[in-house]
Amino acid sequence: MNDQKKDAAQAVWRAEDENGTARLAERLAGWAAPGTVIALDGDLGAGKTFFSQSFARALGVREVVNSPTFTIIKEYEDGRLPLYHMDVYRLSQDEADELGLDDYFYGQGVVLVEWASLIPDLLPPAHLAIAIEHAGGSARIIRLTGAGRPYADWCRRLAEEGVCGE
Ligand SMILES: Nc1ncnc2c1ncn2[C@@H]1O[C@H](COP(=O)(O)OP(=O)(O)OP(=O)(O)O)[C@@H](O)[C@H]1O
Ligand SMILES: [Mg+2]
Repeated sequence: MNDQKKDAAQAVWRAEDENGTARLAERLAGWAAPGTVIALDGDLGAGKTFFSQSFARALGVREVVNSPTFTIIKEYEDGRLPLYHMDVYRLSQDEADELGLDDYFYGQGVVLVEWASLIPDLLPPAHLAIAIEHAGGSARIIRLTGAGRPYADWCRRLAEEGVCGE
């Protein structure tokens, strides 16, 4: 049996406004290492791109980070680690094959994937899933699920610190 695959943990982060979402992104950017994969989901305007922009800034990326909706993948090389920002909303199977997503997922950088739940079979088994929900006005409930190492530990750490609602 592979214990690493079975290891999972959850945490919930409540953001009252953009700053709350940015604080979570900064926290996670500090823990990111080569090969980190973060899968982002949430309705239109939930804050997937906002989270990604905050994460990129915390990683030291100075370039402007825009939504990669039409380009699918954007690469930023000027931070602490290479950052690959994907939006797979319009990704077709042909494009997925052509892009060779595994080179990103199993590479030396950090991958952020918007609309990741559309490509469940293409994601590596170990990743951090983040679901952002509207909670009225600027408030968001952000549910984190860590599958495998080190992501399950990240969720436990957030939960233990009492910064999470559950
Ligand atoms: N707590 C919050 N966290 C994140 N974004 C917030 C928050 N409160 C307000 N916002 C605003 O909500 C908007 C989120 O837009 P964003 O483009 O990040 O959403 P998205 O999930 O990427 O949408 P899409 O599915 O269209 O790509 C931004 O204008 C942001 O400033
Ligand atoms: Mg977006």
